Amino acid sequence: MVKRIAVIPGDGIGVDVTAEAVKVLARLTKSRQLPIELETFDWGAEKYLREGVTLPQGALDMFRREFHAIFIGAMGDPRVPDMKHAADILLGTRFGLDLYVNQRPVKLLDPRLCPLKDHSEKDVNFVVFRENTEGAYVGMGGNFKRDTPDEIAIQEDVNTRKGVERILVYAFEYGRRNGLKRLCMSDKSNALPHGHGLWQRTFAEVRRRYPDIESWHLYVDALAMQMVKNPAQFDVIVTCNMFGDIVSDLGAQLQGGLGLAASANINPGNVSMFEPVHGSAPKYAGKNVANPMAAVLTVGMMLDYLGFGREAADIEKCVAAAIHQDKTTSDLGGPLGTREVGDWICAHL
Ligand code: NAD
Ligand code: IPM
Ligand code: MN
Repeated sequence: MVKRIAVIPGDGIGVDVTAEAVKVLARLTKSRQLPIELETFDWGAEKYLREGVTLPQGALDMFRREFHAIFIGAMGDPRVPDMKHAADILLGTRFGLDLYVNQRPVKLLDPRLCPLKDHSEKDVNFVVFRENTEGAYVGMGGNFKRDTPDEIAIQEDVNTRKGVERILVYAFEYGRRNGLKRLCMSDKSNALPHGHGLWQRTFAEVRRRYPDIESWHLYVDALAMQMVKNPAQFDVIVTCNMFGDIVSDLGAQLQGGLGLAASANINPGNVSMFEPVHGSAPKYAGKNVANPMAAVLTVGMMLDYLGFGREAADIEKCVAAAIHQDKTTSDLGGPLGTREVGDWICAHL
């Protein structure tokens, strides 16, 4: 069956890195005759400013009906300070397609890239599972007496039993499937006893079903410290939406920076969305300097999800080889531009 992929380059460096990701994908599709078709959509700040359209009417139904995966570059543009288009397109896709698993691997590919001294590949290799459909991101709340000295701002943190349980179960199952023996759940239940008390109680129940996996809890402040102090202790980390956002950027730097951090937004068995962890980095847009490797590794995650595990593994190997040989952009200390890194990867796959 042909796998159909929707490509949304988006804004800023999203456009630059998506061009390279698509180049790599096209190369693989051709050389290995993969049954893959791409369709590109120009949704983003430019279109929003021009036409007032963010996520077009019927887009989510179209994804459900006609596509197996969606690739997004990045969203964010200084001309849209309230991020309206990003909220609609990015969060709209995550919420609208119920992509409750945000999988963000942290894997050091070359010890020279780790900011911690004396750490090698085996010390930094874990995966963060971020709950992706609830928490502080649901957009519930409001502003009362706005722009007055008496303004009140409320942003609700929504946690449901079903939502917490399904991400915990997914993380444990992932561990079991991949022979990973350690799982850490992180919350802030000492300060947020209602919302995160639910995480505690659900975790206590779910972990009993997985006696084969050593599981424990850390408050998120302690997790941040432990990720730096001793990242080797982690195989699987599972946490809420907001904390997952933050610790995945911390994790990104442990592996060499946002230019290398890939992610998958998954609803198991259904159309899912893939995007690098980084944003649109407007100051680097269009300058051929952004690192395309996060986007290329994200293509790897997407191929793996679509059933092309061998190609996914080859992509990771090829990116690691590029890093070992300094065929990298300046964020990793290399001499190449965005396009040249993409070309090198295509030539060596
Ligand atoms: P950012 O990730 O865009 O950039 C932060 C810094 O990280 C950059 O200045 C750069 O030094 C480095 N960086 C990031 N990606 C890189 C790459 N591929 N190559 C080399 N260096 C890279 O974060 P920000 O500056 O906080 O946000 C910029 C805009 O992007 C904002 O509008 C923000 O809301 C948005 N954003 C979008 C997403 C997304 O679409 N998924 C994610 C994060 C931020
Ligand atoms: C990410 C980004 C988004 C998030 C923003 C752009 C809303 O930071 O994908 O990590 O917070 O989820
Ligand atoms: Mn983020």
